[in-house]
Amino acid sequence: MLPPGPSAPPLVQTLRWLRAPVPLFEECRERYGPTFTLRLKVGAPIVCLTDPAHVKELFTAPPDVLHPGEGGRILEPILGSHSVLVLDEDAHLEQRRMMLPAFHGDRMTALTEALEELTARAVDELPRDEPVALHPRMQLLTLRVILRAIFGLRAGPRLERFETVLTDYLERGSAPVNMLPALQRDLGPRSPWGRFLRVRREALALLHEEIRARRADRDHDGDDVLAMLLGARHGDAGGGRPMADDEIADELMTLLVAGHETTASQLAWTFERLARTPDVLATAVRAADADDDAYLTAVLNEGLRMRPVLLFAQPRAVHRDVELGGRRYTAGTCAITANVHLIHHDPEIYPQPHRFRPERFLERPPGTYTFVPFGGGRRRCLGMSFAMLEMRIVLRELLRRRTVQAVGDGGEGPLRRHITVSPARGGLVVLGDRGGYAARAAQTLATSSSSR
Ligand code: HEM
Repeated sequence: MLPPGPSAPPLVQTLRWLRAPVPLFEECRERYGPTFTLRLKVGAPIVCLTDPAHVKELFTAPPDVLHPGEGGRILEPILGSHSVLVLDEDAHLEQRRMMLPAFHGDRMTALTEALEELTARAVDELPRDEPVALHPRMQLLTLRVILRAIFGLRAGPRLERFETVLTDYLERGSAPVNMLPALQRDLGPRSPWGRFLRVRREALALLHEEIRARRADRDHDGDDVLAMLLGARHGDAGGGRPMADDEIADELMTLLVAGHETTASQLAWTFERLARTPDVLATAVRAADADDDAYLTAVLNEGLRMRPVLLFAQPRAVHRDVELGGRRYTAGTCAITANVHLIHHDPEIYPQPHRFRPERFLERPPGTYTFVPFGGGRRRCLGMSFAMLEMRIVLRELLRRRTVQAVGDGGEGPLRRHITVSPARGGLVVLGDRGGYAARAAQTLATSSSSR
């Protein structure tokens, strides 16, 4: 028997999960305790864990027992069948092993300058002294970052073509209506799914063209992820052969989908929170001026804790019978996940969980099973360091050059976009001119030397 959960029909639970997931989770935690089951119209029942000890068991279970790839099948039409996200066991390990080197620290550092340039341009383009929703602006920036750092594209008509087609692709792929398997049917070129399939074909054709061009172009200097994938080799079982074009295309699509909306929404949330917490904002501005990465990272972590864009880790389908958190689960009956939102708002772990207080992460570093915005175990987010680097650069640049003011009194509620949640008003703020960074730095220096 599965853990208790709401008895409402799956359609009702799905609508609540789509429209207002946070109250649904909180109500379930309150009513049914730390482990509960949701029954949605998508896939098997989902068991949500909120106890970190159980989450540890979940993240460390053997690969043949729990199948996150199977639990993430809902994403296959968007990512493709070779995607690391939809595979399990050896096939998953193989793809992940080939992708990992591209995300190592030194590779990331090499991309810093490119990220800084793109960020500076994006900040230049932000309007001042009028309300601006940061989310769409951050979407454009994270798309440009991916096109440069992952696909290796430089300014020019090709880049513009990619920008147009992929924006359309991401927009259609993120529509909640395209999430339900029952609606994933081509009912003609005007139906949502029909349009999605057409733009998917267009996006894939572009990717394949790019892969072929890059294979032929031996002069490309290649600090990007695509360069690494072109050089990657399958292990012994795969005969040491290079990755096929299909595989590379699916992984590029995966990195785009996994890394674009998540990072953009997380940035929008971070500014939404900062703008409503003036004392933290003031400290963060000083940290940006002083290049204090530790505080900026704590701000990002606090944003990830309080407003995680993915409310739960990828559900792990139970592939073999397993005992977890003192309960037995039979193969094929459910998928199990860590409920990120509830874990991050547990007052036993995070006192005053509704307070935006980055200092908590300076006092105590994030715990492996209590801070899980990037999931965990062998499925932990592959782009975590990349996302943190990118978000730190954006946070620093924007705080150095602009003042940030909230619009409206209350905080923004969540709005679902496919599997992520973003601020309902897009992270609406008014940005002002802070004056030159050099002038600021001089001022900070003068203040700190006079206070000595
Ligand atoms: C704030 C930004 C991001 C957040 C919050 C986030 C979160 C996550 C989460 C929760 C998972 C599932 C992990 C699990 O279930 O254990 C995941 C997987 C993944 N993420 Fe991210 N992610 C972010 C950015 C990125 C970026 C920038 C990239 C790449 C450029 C990326 C690539 C991936 C990939 C490839 C996986 C699948 C890993 C696997 O199945 O082995 N993510 N991410």
